[in-house]
Amino acid sequence: MRKALVAGNWKMHGRIEQNQLLVETLVAQLTDLADAIDIVICPPLVYLDQVGKMLNPDVIQLGAQDVSRFGQDGAHTGDCSAAMLADLGVRYVLVGHSERRSDYAENDQCIATKLAQVLSAGLTPILCVGETLEQREAQQVEQVIASQLIEALEGLDSHAVSSLVLAYEPVWAIGTGKTATPEQAQAVHAFIRETLASRYGQPLADRMIILYGGSVKAANAEQLFGQADIDGGLIGGAALVSEEFTAICRAAANSTIDG
Ligand code: PGA
Repeated sequence: MRKALVAGNWKMHGRIEQNQLLVETLVAQLTDLADAIDIVICPPLVYLDQVGKMLNPDVIQLGAQDVSRFGQDGAHTGDCSAAMLADLGVRYVLVGHSERRSDYAENDQCIATKLAQVLSAGLTPILCVGETLEQREAQQVEQVIASQLIEALEGLDSHAVSSLVLAYEPVWAIGTGKTATPEQAQAVHAFIRETLASRYGQPLADRMIILYGGSVKAANAEQLFGQADIDGGLIGGAALVSEEFTAICRAAANSTIDG
């Protein structure tokens, strides 16, 4: 059985004092879920050290929101390598988030390079894919998702692919309050699993963790996580509110118990 995972993406939010309060609360409230699910927090780069020192990795693990596409130390102003993230105790790294794709024009080739960097540092990438509203309205969802997946995974062998986490995040649902319906999300998750099965075999596809992201909150988490191919969530706004994030984690734990 797949173990559910909930990852909180703080994006560009936080201050030292605020982080301390939020993380202290989460650590206290989520300890009992340690065996049931995996929980990850991805604070901004400058707060990784602060947050990492407060976490008990048996309960909540540290994640980063981005990584340099360059692997070697060198003249890359403003960048932070996967090895540096690993040095700080980071275990997961978001790659290909739609905000990176749009704000920094990251294309599939750049994303493939970043995936390789994360993997070579022994960290787990959370690869994000998702269509825009225009693409959904033009009935291009499967085409877009398949191409983002195939291009990003190009060059990885099945062992490497099996160590990834995937996240389906429809761009139109991110930060908009519009969530995909559980059925819409499930249809794309099933498609992602089928795509993986056709390329890497059913056993590998069955083991892959596929998260849903896009306006997940306490009120809709249970229904989303109750879908057969949704194995947890990538949470933005609601990850900044301890009661919301805790309730989302509990919904994921319940879905694991329910099967
Ligand atoms: P949201 O963000 O939950 O605020 O919609 C999700 C994400 O971008 O990962």
